[in-house]
Amino acid sequence: MKKIGLVGWRGMVGSVLMARMREEKDFDLVEPFFFTTSQAGQSSPEVAGQTSVLIEAFDIAALKDMDIIITCQGSNYTNDVYYKLRRSGWNGFWIDAASALRMKDHAVITLDPVNLKLIQDSLVNGVKDFIGGNCTVSLMLMGLGGLFKANLVEWASAMTYQAASGAGAVHMRELILQMGAISSSVETLIDSPELGILDIDKAVTQCMQSEQFPLANWGFPLAGSILPWIGDAKENGQSGEEWKNEAETNKILGNVQGAISLDGLCVRIGAMRCHSQALTIKMRENVSVADIEDLILEGNPWSAIVPNEKHASLERLTPAAIAGSLTVPVGRIRKMNIGDRYLSAFTAGDQLLWGAAEPLRRMLRVVLDYLG
Ligand code: HSE
Repeated sequence: MKKIGLVGWRGMVGSVLMARMREEKDFDLVEPFFFTTSQAGQSSPEVAGQTSVLIEAFDIAALKDMDIIITCQGSNYTNDVYYKLRRSGWNGFWIDAASALRMKDHAVITLDPVNLKLIQDSLVNGVKDFIGGNCTVSLMLMGLGGLFKANLVEWASAMTYQAASGAGAVHMRELILQMGAISSSVETLIDSPELGILDIDKAVTQCMQSEQFPLANWGFPLAGSILPWIGDAKENGQSGEEWKNEAETNKILGNVQGAISLDGLCVRIGAMRCHSQALTIKMRENVSVADIEDLILEGNPWSAIVPNEKHASLERLTPAAIAGSLTVPVGRIRKMNIGDRYLSAFTAGDQLLWGAAEPLRRMLRVVLDYLG
């Protein structure tokens, strides 16, 4: 059995990955070794009734013994370890959730329901580095991959509504603390029939603007508000998150950069773990909504259509409805007033599943299949 080294398995994405690997019985196919940046020598999690000893994650000799490494430890770890490991002569498969290597020529962004052929061709050509994509990009392509596959998208604008999970576990906790602080601030007021809603609103605003409001991680109130910037700043005015949309989409699809233009504003909202996106798509041809829905469904087994109806949209096309699910629903599909080649769509997907852990887990399977 192939030796697989797991790094960053205890964090949020790593924990989701571990749970999915257990569910899908991936551990039956590999010999796992658990690495740690802080607890070497302690006991590993139990797999098939057995534990082992946690190995130091910066131990290049130990990493070099692995056939496949999957890391959810983040870009600092990747930048620190990856090059040392390759320079040491290691020729194994590196499967990584972090963005550090994503746009490198030697790496493929892995999203096999969308780009399996590219992945398989790359394996034959000796590529060894497979990196999970940005969560919004992966989720957009899981939902709307069928339209890209049919080469119907001339350009698209994705306006995102991104959940707290994309920023990390401590940010999720702080979002809940913010919600709690707001709720507590009006606890005695909310049920007083003599108080008008504007008095309650005033108390909420005071709470959100007070120095006690918990925002050590977000820097600003997110609960009861939104944050219209995610990531660093690019010279052209895009945020880092916005820049990834076009660059990563084209790379995943195997296009030359810029082949399909994509842009939009990325916004953080107070959802927990599901990113949503509102899309405007300029299509290359005037295709009927029925055919568009068929193409979306043919794209991959996880995309689903929500009819463009009020109740269905509110019931099935929300972060609350799809948290914890691998289904990526697409709805609000209609031709826009602007013209019959302009399509609107809305999609939501679990940021920790298809947005992070699942493409890595499935990449492991693709590598194992390839190695026979
Ligand atoms: N950058 C994303 C976010 C994380 O902040 O939501 C997923 O790639």
